[in-house]
Amino acid sequence: MSEPTLSLKDVHTYIGQHHILQGVSLDVNAGRATVLVGRNGAGKSTTLRTIMGLYPVRSGSITLDGEAIQNRKPFHIARLGIGFVPEDHAVLTTLTVEENLRLAMFKESEDGWRRMESIFRLFPDLKRFLHSKAGVLSGGQKQMLAISLALVLDHRIVLIDEPSKGLAPVVVEHLGKSLNQIKDTTTVVLVEQNFYLASQVGQDYFILDDGRVAHHGLMEDLVNDHALKRKYLGIG
Ligand SMILES: Nc1ncnc2c1ncn2[C@@H]1O[C@H](COP(=O)(O)OP(=O)(O)O)[C@@H](O)[C@H]1O
Ligand SMILES: [Mg+2]
Repeated sequence: MSEPTLSLKDVHTYIGQHHILQGVSLDVNAGRATVLVGRNGAGKSTTLRTIMGLYPVRSGSITLDGEAIQNRKPFHIARLGIGFVPEDHAVLTTLTVEENLRLAMFKESEDGWRRMESIFRLFPDLKRFLHSKAGVLSGGQKQMLAISLALVLDHRIVLIDEPSKGLAPVVVEHLGKSLNQIKDTTTVVLVEQNFYLASQVGQDYFILDDGRVAHHGLMEDLVNDHALKRKYLGIG
C-alpha cells in the first residue's frame, strides 16, 4: 500500500467553546473517491472546513503527501492543491458563468482553458449558459458551476460538501455520473447525506458520529451492512 495522500491524525477542532471534532483520524488515498457520511451534525462539514484551514486545529495533525498543513491559511492550502466546493453552491450570482470560471482560474493559462474544455464535456449546460448570469441557473446547474470552479485549477484533491442538497433525483443521477468522471482524474473527498449518491461515487467510506470516526472501510461492504447503516445513518 502506498502512503495516503491526505491524512488526518487525531484532529480536534473547536468552534468557539464547542469541542466539535473530537479526534478525527482518516486517510484519503490518491486516485480514489472517499466519502464521509453520518447524521446531520456529525461533523462532516467541520472536517472539510478544518482541512481547508477555515477552522484552527487545536491538536492533531493534517498532512498532504507527508507535509504538515494544519493551521496554514486557506489560500495556502488551496495553492498546495486542495480544491473545496462548500455547501450551497457558492457561485457569484451577479457574474456570468464565464466570469465565475475566469475568476476561479486566477490567471489565464493554456492549461486552464484545456481544463475548461473538459469541464464543458462534463457539464455541457455550462457552455450553453456561458454568457448568462449564474443567478439564472437552476439549482443543479449552479452546483455544476460550483464544482467546476474547483476543477479549473489543477488540484490534486477536491473536497465537495453535499452537492446533492436540494436537487431533484434526476439531477442527482446526472451529478453522480459527472462525479464518477471527475474521480478518474482527481482524488475526490465527498460529503453526502444522500446515501444513493454516496454509494454510486464512493470507494472508501468513513462514518462520522459525534465528531469522531465510528467506522470506515470499503463502500461495497457498507452497502450490504444494513445494521451499520441503520445505526449511524438511520437507513437500511
Ligand atoms: N458556527 C458554529 N457554531 C457552533 N456550533 C457549530 C457551528 N457550526 C457547526 N456547529 C456544530 O458542530 C457540529 C457539527 O456540524 P457540521 O460539521 O456542520 O455537521 P454535518 O456537516 O455533519 O451535518 C453540530 O453539532 C453543529 O451544531
Ligand atoms: Mg454539513
